[in-house]
Formats: sequence, C-alpha cells, structure tokens
Amino acid sequence: MPARPPISSARSNDRHHDKRTVSQHFGRAARSYDEHAMLQLAVGRSLVQRLPDSLPVKHALDLGCATAPFARAQQQALPDVQWQAVDLSAAMLAEAAERGRLDGTYQPLCADAENLPLPAASQGLVFSCFALQWCDPLRVMEEVSRVLAPGGRLLLAVPLSGSLRELQTSWQRVNQHPHVNTLPSLSHWRDAALSAGFADADLQQQVMVEYYDSVKAIARRLKATGADHVSGASGLTGKNAWQAMVHEYETLRTEQGLPLTWNVLFLDAEKTQ
Ligand SMILES: C[S@@+](CC[C@H](N)C(=O)[O-])C[C@H]1O[C@@H](n2cnc3c(N)ncnc32)[C@H](O)[C@@H]1O
Repeated sequence: MPARPPISSARSNDRHHDKRTVSQHFGRAARSYDEHAMLQLAVGRSLVQRLPDSLPVKHALDLGCATAPFARAQQQALPDVQWQAVDLSAAMLAEAAERGRLDGTYQPLCADAENLPLPAASQGLVFSCFALQWCDPLRVMEEVSRVLAPGGRLLLAVPLSGSLRELQTSWQRVNQHPHVNTLPSLSHWRDAALSAGFADADLQQQVMVEYYDSVKAIARRLKATGADHVSGASGLTGKNAWQAMVHEYETLRTEQGLPLTWNVLFLDAEKTQ
C-alpha cells in the first residue's frame, strides 16, 4: 500500500463535514472566483492545450470545474464530446450556468470526485484543474480509474505540498495552529496513480510564484478563490496573531513584492486496462 498523505486529523475523522465545509467555502467564492483565480486559470489553459484530438468514448468530465471557465475551449477542442461539469458546490455550478457556460453538451453534475454517481468505464477523459487537493489521492485516483474507459485519458493539475510556503512559514513563527492546509506531495500522487493502474503516468512539477503588494491582498485572493479553507482550523484569528504573522511575512518582501509560491503537479495518464 502506498503511504497515505499527511492529512490533518480533522480531515480524516470527519470527512463528510469537511467536504461540506469545502463546498460552503467555494459556494461563498462563486461570484468572485474568476476575477481572482489568475494562476488557476493560466494552469487550466495549459491543460486545455494538452487535450487529445479524439477520445475512445465521447464523454468527458471536468472534475471540480467551479464556474466552468474552460467550457468553451474544451468544447472547441473536442466538439463531438458530451461534457459533465462536476463540482461539490451547487453555488459554483449555478454561477457557471449564470455565466452561460452550461448547455446541452456541457451539463452540470453536483457530486464528490471521490464518489462519482457514474458507471464504470463510461468516460473517455477526466480533466481536473486545481480541485483535487482536498481529496485523498488514492481514493480519487481509484475513482477516476473506475469511470475511465480503456484508452481514456486523465489530465490533472493540482497544487502540492510546498505551495503557500511563505504563508505557512510566517504563521509557524507565530503559533502552531493550522493556518495552511497540508497538501499531498508528488510521491503521494505518484503512488496513488500507480496503485490505481496508471502505470505510465507522466508527472511533472512546476513551481510558480505570484507577487502581491500586501498580506491583505494575499488573504483577499485566497478568500475570493475559496482557497482559504483550512482543515481543522477554528476560523478565528486574533488581531495580534494576524499582525505578528504580517510582520513575519514582510521579512520575505522582494523588489517584485510579497511572494506566494505554488508548487503545481501536472499529471497526464492513460487508462490501459
Ligand atoms: C480552485 S477551484 C478550481 C476551479 C477550476 N477547475 C479552475 O481551475 O479554475 C476548486 C473547485 O473544486 C471543487 N471541489 C473541491 N473538492 C471537490 C470534490 N471532492 N469533488 C468535486 N469538486 C470539488 C470546489 O467546490 C471548487 O469549485
């Protein structure tokens, strides 16, 4: 068995509650998501570039699609494919509909990526950008493998451990409460891919750094994209602790501003059996 990711106790003890809170966080971010998710959208566009020309089965999923920002590009790349826009958050899917991104060939499905209400071998492609970081890699890879038809493709981008490291370090200097999620590492995802039967999975890691004027702008960006949800956190941060953390973060300031690092995994795999 591959090693399990270093998930927090809150996440492993109360998974259903945590899924609900992930969904609620994203629900609150539905309106603001597109305007603040520059990095996610850039990563997603590069995943779209990797879409295959044809699929063994003309059904595809965008897992954790949020407002479905890639719907048009995905439909243009694979025009004869029936897409399902899958998300835990009904509010995100409602926002996708309001933005005119859902139609007869791009249908919403409110569901958990770890437990998809879909038949085995029913999909030719699973696309997922910046959405599976709250999942257990082994569980979600097994579910993706189950729904993919032989010859089906998985195109995945997900932030890895080491992401938001400046925020984590700054908080660690102030107190030991959980302020940043502990994310699975590249080896957790590699082990999960192997265990789920993706023998030839290609995994590449890319470090991306954003720069901000202030810690407040960083916090606003994380909140607006729903990425501020932290497993096991109380949600309450004292003013003094916040100011102490800001002071620590300011010591990392560069000429470009305050860095915010993302360590992103690009995984490309084919279901062989
Ligand atoms: C950061 S957004 C990414 C959206 C979009 N894929 C993009 O790249 O811009 C993450 C989305 O994943 C969804 N999500 C998180 N965990 C999920 C799960 N277990 N199953 C389905 N959706 C999930 C959230 O509700 C949220 O809408």
